[in-house]
Amino acid sequence: MTGRSGETGPGPRVLIVVPTYNERDNLAWLVGRLRTAVPAVDVLVVDDGSPDGTGEVADRLAATDPQVSVLHRSVKAGLGAAYLHGFRVALERGYDVIGEMDADGSHQPEQLPALIAALDDADLVIGSRWVPGGSVVNWPLSRRLLSRGGNLYARALLGIGVRDVTAGYRLFRRSTLERIDLASVESAGYIFQTDLAWRTLRAGLRVVEVPIEFVERVRGESKMSRDVAVESLRRITLWGLRERAGRLGDVRSRRRSAGSGGA
Ligand code: GDD
Ligand code: MN
Repeated sequence: MTGRSGETGPGPRVLIVVPTYNERDNLAWLVGRLRTAVPAVDVLVVDDGSPDGTGEVADRLAATDPQVSVLHRSVKAGLGAAYLHGFRVALERGYDVIGEMDADGSHQPEQLPALIAALDDADLVIGSRWVPGGSVVNWPLSRRLLSRGGNLYARALLGIGVRDVTAGYRLFRRSTLERIDLASVESAGYIFQTDLAWRTLRAGLRVVEVPIEFVERVRGESKMSRDVAVESLRRITLWGLRERAGRLGDVRSRRRSAGSGGA
């Protein structure tokens, strides 16, 4: 996103929210790369009381860099819950653009300028693995299948065209977050990503996918779990059924009003 045409002065204020749980060996590396790649961008780390001391690493980063701040939450309550908290704070602080990035280096800060540029014609930009030009490095077949399968299922049930609706490298315009009623979001885990993309689409807003290279983490462990997968499956199925029931209801009421003898 560049300044409005012909406008001088500072560009949009961008905050990247980085959720962390046990990312001690990744966080300083990631934040350093991010601050170098796009120096104007601020960073908010949202740590869920990581037992490995990630919270203290974050505090040290914040102490030496005024563009870095930290939210400490007491218990691990899921990726979605952490982002919701971070987004609330970002909106309070008046940011124009609010982004998501994993702490483990899978989302390369060096690709952020391409996402920012795409926000000129979008309300939500998704860094996408599954569009032409996008890729995944070092994922085992099982993880590829889970991601492809999850995306296929979501596309089929929700009737949407987004290729990587579960992706976690994103930029929202402030106005998008204000439109999609964050207070009613119940998704706690990774399904939060699909939830927000779907809300954005249903609000009639523009979602644009930018190809990225997703690089599997080298240090630490993924927090993807059975519970995370089960919540995703359960919620998508529920939304899909509700959507269908809604559409059926629309057709019926249209038929009724057509039958009730309008002009
Ligand atoms: N605060 C907090 N609380 N952070 C969390 C939690 C939590 O409960 N669970 C995960 N995280 C953080 C991790 O520390 C990491 O920074 C980021 O969220 C992503 O977690 P990973 O565990 O590295 O996710 P992944 O690599 O398996 O999954 C990737 O693919 C998913 C599906 O496409 C990510 O890109 C996800 O964002 C994406 O939804
Ligand atoms: Mn990861």
